[in-house]
Amino acid sequence: MASSSRDEFSSSFGFVMAAAGSAVGLGNIWGFPTQTAENGGAAFVLVYILLAFLVGYPVLMAEFTIGRHTRMAPPDAYKKLGGGQSYFIIGLLGLVTVGIILSFYSIIAGGMVAYFVEPIGRILGLDGVADWVVSQNTTSNFVFMTIFFLFTLLIVSGGVSKGIEKWSKRFMPLLFMLFIVLVVYVLTLDGAMEGARVYLLPDFDKVFDPQLLTSAMGQAFFSLSLGVGGMLVYGSYTSDKANLTRLGWLVTLCDIGVAIIAGFLIIPAMYAASSLGTEIFDANGALISGPNLIFQVLPSLFDSMGPIGVFVAFVFFLLMSIAALTSSMSMLEAVVAYVVDRTQVPRKRATWYTGGVFWVIAVVIVFNYEALFGLVVTAATEYAQPFLGLAIVVFAGWIIRKNVLLNELKKGQPEIEKTFFYKIWPIFLKVVCPILILLVFLQTFNF
Ligand code: PHE
Repeated sequence: MASSSRDEFSSSFGFVMAAAGSAVGLGNIWGFPTQTAENGGAAFVLVYILLAFLVGYPVLMAEFTIGRHTRMAPPDAYKKLGGGQSYFIIGLLGLVTVGIILSFYSIIAGGMVAYFVEPIGRILGLDGVADWVVSQNTTSNFVFMTIFFLFTLLIVSGGVSKGIEKWSKRFMPLLFMLFIVLVVYVLTLDGAMEGARVYLLPDFDKVFDPQLLTSAMGQAFFSLSLGVGGMLVYGSYTSDKANLTRLGWLVTLCDIGVAIIAGFLIIPAMYAASSLGTEIFDANGALISGPNLIFQVLPSLFDSMGPIGVFVAFVFFLLMSIAALTSSMSMLEAVVAYVVDRTQVPRKRATWYTGGVFWVIAVVIVFNYEALFGLVVTAATEYAQPFLGLAIVVFAGWIIRKNVLLNELKKGQPEIEKTFFYKIWPIFLKVVCPILILLVFLQTFNF
């Protein structure tokens, strides 16, 4: 069944870059600041950090260890460990969800690519083309979504070490560098400090707001790429010698760190835009969020900056495109790994077939944007991902034999028995995570 010579990451560094690449994406740089602005500023940040550590990290570790132990893609991995066909469904549901995420994600990411191309058009004097590129009509959305898809396909078809790992090792350091340069620059703009103040000011009345809890849980799952198989599959490509708990920490810290720092980029940038005359509040007096934030408020800030604005816009949207690409690679890989493991189809062809199916779904969403986009985003991120997370912790905590995952960790960490993690992780999987996820779930459905 499983193919005999599975590809592997060539180093722990490569693995961390790929997994952090999957985690750090539009969810961090765009989703997180937007959610923060909508949900009581720093109150949301605090709840998010708590959930990321208490629920996100234990689930991430479960995915890494299940992956490495079975060396299989999700449906087979769950089936093998659980000893029953019914567990296959958890993995399959994850792959369906990740395919849907890939489809809507590529549409937003295509927008990032468009705005990255726009300043180049302006510099070349092609103003008409530049205007069309960012017109966000159905045709331009379709074109740029397809371009983004092609990049994802090209990288994933190269394989794990020669595609995903190679490009993650190039892209992630570049992304960190661009990110820091931009944050430092934005914080020097007039009005930016007011934004930083608003970001840091918690509205504690909102901490127990059901909407805040649902959003923070959804955000934690989405941002750490959990439940849908991408992290499990990356785990299945790591060496037995790797110290998984440490690598998992690094990935979690990168993810949370980038999200928090992104708040210092986006919210201050909005206030800087406001001090230059751009409207940053909607009709209800709330900060503008969602697509209008990225595709209207920020571009208008860049426009009003004068000549340097073109350069800043270029850097910002390059950053967003790279962040999106290292995430979409892991989404596609989750499904491609399954096809490659289960069939005789060579990787390249498997990538194009699989990608083709999700591209068609993306096309359907592009052409029915109003009706479908919001619906699939909510269904996948607020319902399917936390539900799958719940299924995974129950599976890891209650269904599989007690020491399988702990013994798996021991391979790369002979000393692990002495650690605090070793003692509390099983309790988290068995009790703490299921209870926290369930509580948030129940209030999502207003029980
Ligand atoms: N973590 C990615 C982000 O924050 C999104 C993602 C979700 C990636 C699910 C893979 C799987 O943008």
